[in-house]
Amino acid sequence: MKNILITGGAGFIGSHVVRLFVNSYPDYHIYNLDVLTYAGNLENLKDIEDKPNYTFIKADICDHEKMESIFSDYNIDGVIHLAAESHVDRSIKDPFSFAKTNVLGTLNLLQAAKTYWGGDFENKLFYHVSTDEVYGTLGESGFFTENTAYDPHSPYSASKASSDHFVRSFYDTYNLPVVISNCSNNYGSHQFPEKLIPLFINNICNNKPLPVYGKGENVRDWLFVNDHARAIDVIFHKGKIGETYNIGGFNEWKNIDLIKVIIKTVDKLLGRPEGASEELITFVTDRAGHDYRYAIDSSKLKNELGWEPSLQFEEGIEKTVKWYLENKAWVDNVTSGNYLKYYQDMYGE
Ligand code: NAD
Ligand code: TYD
Repeated sequence: MKNILITGGAGFIGSHVVRLFVNSYPDYHIYNLDVLTYAGNLENLKDIEDKPNYTFIKADICDHEKMESIFSDYNIDGVIHLAAESHVDRSIKDPFSFAKTNVLGTLNLLQAAKTYWGGDFENKLFYHVSTDEVYGTLGESGFFTENTAYDPHSPYSASKASSDHFVRSFYDTYNLPVVISNCSNNYGSHQFPEKLIPLFINNICNNKPLPVYGKGENVRDWLFVNDHARAIDVIFHKGKIGETYNIGGFNEWKNIDLIKVIIKTVDKLLGRPEGASEELITFVTDRAGHDYRYAIDSSKLKNELGWEPSLQFEEGIEKTVKWYLENKAWVDNVTSGNYLKYYQDMYGE
């Protein structure tokens, strides 16, 4: 494979994947396709934008004709599909955009790949990046495995589950070479400050309330974003066609305990007395349909492909908090919409 199309590469996880591939594989050409929604920001990729093996394409995965022409214009032979609407709270307010981008957008890409590759699937791969939220919720014990039945509860997870089913259907029906991974919650640099960790870091810095849904007892399994990017690299190169791989950190935290770690880390780095910002914690109405617990068993990925998370959580959180404190301008730009100017200045649109 030579020409790799990475969709959603200007977003949080996508930008880490694009950087990893551009830097690690000078023989590949990486095409980053992104429509630049509120969550896509080319400033995330400033450090690699001039590399000879990198091209940005502004396009909407919902544009069927455009997707077909991109495959032939750039002779695409590998896809890593991350573009999506990704925030559960937004999906509760506007489920239609999630069905459009996550389901129809994915179907457009599948169809474009199938048409362009025309049944010659030698050295071709369609890699679909998905979430553990498709499996629904766990009780106090147990883990999601690759065999757990799908049981999504939010419009976000329902749309991702539907896209996963379409991807598998293209393998079963047309032999399209696909692979899917389902990952737990990611954290790290460049995440839009609407998700729990960056939102709370930002609010602590600005002395704003920290809205904890319900009693803060929900559990998530957190993985450092660079470890997710590494897993995607391993699965892209060594994964078995038609298979699913779960990716997780074996790193479960109750929201309220995680929030206290974030507070402690931010207070320490800002030179505030330990725990000073705990007074910002504000319990608010629970999220509708709030899944209680996610926990991933990623032993298949470890045993078959040799991937493991590399970072201890405390270290990852400290790195993440430091990044947000040192990049206040990035946070201001993405929350004000000014980041769009970066694209306009660069591409003259
Ligand atoms: P994100 O919201 O930060 O980025 C999504 C990117 O997709 C943005 O750059 C956006 O501009 C782009 N995009 C959205 N709609 C598009 C369209 N119609 N056409 C082209 N581009 C479009 O999301 P993220 O957190 O980086 O997640 C990336 C992928 O990983 C998603 O598929 C998500 O479901 C999955 N995932 C995320 C997590 C997590 O914790 N964030 C965990 C597991 C899986
Ligand atoms: P989030 O980062 O939105 O990820 P997801 O819903 O995909 O797991 O939320 C992580 C957890 O934090 C989830 O249990 C909801 C909770 N949460 C809050 O308590 N307050 C908030 O303001 C947000 C955004 C999330």
